[in-house]
Amino acid sequence: MIRPILRMGDPRLLQVSVPVTEFNTPALDELLADMFETMHAADGAGLAAPQIGKNVRVVIFGFDRNERYPDAPAIAPTVLINPTIEPLTEVLEDGWEGCLSVPGLRGVVPRILRLRYSGLDAKGKAFSREAEGFHARVVQHECDHLDGILYPMRVRDFSRFGYTDVLFPGNDRGE
Ligand code: NI
Repeated sequence: MIRPILRMGDPRLLQVSVPVTEFNTPALDELLADMFETMHAADGAGLAAPQIGKNVRVVIFGFDRNERYPDAPAIAPTVLINPTIEPLTEVLEDGWEGCLSVPGLRGVVPRILRLRYSGLDAKGKAFSREAEGFHARVVQHECDHLDGILYPMRVRDFSRFGYTDVLFPGNDRGE
């Protein structure tokens, strides 16, 4: 079922979410199905459970091609539960981000360029993957949601934060 996406200002987006402890339950399966349906309906690159009001450490991401980020390389559809992130470099890269909870806006955020993320999949099986660039950015953005952090909190240069249609005139980025 497509769920309403909470928007910035809602205190539930600022909570620290709790780890998932039970797998292969109807509740978790339904949450994941709803998250994918909601993300696809909004043409998002990723979604975190708190964005639909579920205070658990679950994120999803992935797409073949994304209208909101037309230049981004494909990322395999991924369920990442109870994630941890290990930086593989100290290098930070600036890049534009948006968020389904912050509609209509974009900002430049510095993110770790290369990292390893680990966690559990939809069935509770542990996995780990290395990522860089936009893939690493999406992971950091989504995992931030689990700690109550929205990307505007990470913007350093507010001259590069604004309305998508003003920043990118004539470039339809889907919102
Ligand atoms: Ni977001």
